[in-house]
Amino acid sequence: MTDEWRGWQVAAETALYGDGGFYRSPEGPAGHFRTSVHASPLFASAVARLLVKTAHELGTGSVDLVDVGAGRGELLTGVLAALPAAGGDGLDVRAYAVERAGRPPGLDPRIEWCAEPPPRTYGLLFANEWLDNVPTEVAETGPDGVDRYVLVRAQDGTERLGEPVTGADAEWLRRWWPSAGPGSRAEIGRPRDEAWARAVSTVAGGLAVAVDYAHVRDARPPFGTLTGFRGGREVRPVPDGSCDLTSHVALDACAAAGSFAGAPPELLSQREALHRLGVSGGRPPLALASADPAGYVRALASAGEAAELTARGGLGDFGWLMQRSG
Ligand SMILES: C[S@@+](CC[C@H](N)C(=O)[O-])C[C@H]1O[C@@H](n2cnc3c(N)ncnc32)[C@H](O)[C@@H]1O
Repeated sequence: MTDEWRGWQVAAETALYGDGGFYRSPEGPAGHFRTSVHASPLFASAVARLLVKTAHELGTGSVDLVDVGAGRGELLTGVLAALPAAGGDGLDVRAYAVERAGRPPGLDPRIEWCAEPPPRTYGLLFANEWLDNVPTEVAETGPDGVDRYVLVRAQDGTERLGEPVTGADAEWLRRWWPSAGPGSRAEIGRPRDEAWARAVSTVAGGLAVAVDYAHVRDARPPFGTLTGFRGGREVRPVPDGSCDLTSHVALDACAAAGSFAGAPPELLSQREALHRLGVSGGRPPLALASADPAGYVRALASAGEAAELTARGGLGDFGWLMQRSG
């Protein structure tokens, strides 16, 4: 009976990426939830502008675009389509989708499908809602004040407390997510820090960006954020392969782990990042309605999508971790 209790990291790893795991299913992430990529093509257009800007900064007409946790390649497809309008006409782009799931049929042949980011790239590495799906251990502070690993049973998600947290995990908690007292919980983000640092280390020159639900040390959620999603709804997290398992990312810890790369990392909200890239939810001028009614309707729809991408209490609150490299 005892080996059915496992730490959350191994349990989630198996449930998401093992044989028959949630992310191996043919419908892909888009079948269960909407990310910014699916919310509006304005997101891919903004990433296309960021790629063009990065190419200018590198002084090159030939760049790599690496999408880590690429889903079914939707963002890359959108960026390639948006490039001419983003000022990238004539830019030579090598596009890489880094994914644990298989290549979807019918994907643009210009997109290379890989299991790891290619080494020594020049350009933009972009990871939208990747790190929240990198499994972590969960710790809970017991009544005695000791942080212990939370163990979970795959068949029904029942939990119990296991061994005390020690070593590098305990050090991580001390530095990044100190206990808020008995009953409080924390996701131990060390595997995410390491995954991010590895991804950043592949960028020989350019910019690495991680976009995710995030929190920072001054405002950690006292009970953690581990949850499940299935068919567009939030559900109890059960590591049986039937639902997504996700928790918000300690992006400040990831930033510190990736900061070997060069310039200090920048952490900002999606609202601020997209505003800088020209996405704003402002309504079109009313005069346009009579001068160009169809154009007005298009502009109104686009303003609505921009508002969703930058909304307070929604996608606009996501964190953008931007790390220049080389
Ligand atoms: C929430 S989905 C996001 C998909 C897409 N980026 C989007 O924004 O719509 C997370 C994706 O990350 C992928 N993933 C998780 N860990 C990965 C890893 N170590 N390497 C490559 N892909 C990974 C999953 O298979 C899944 O498709």
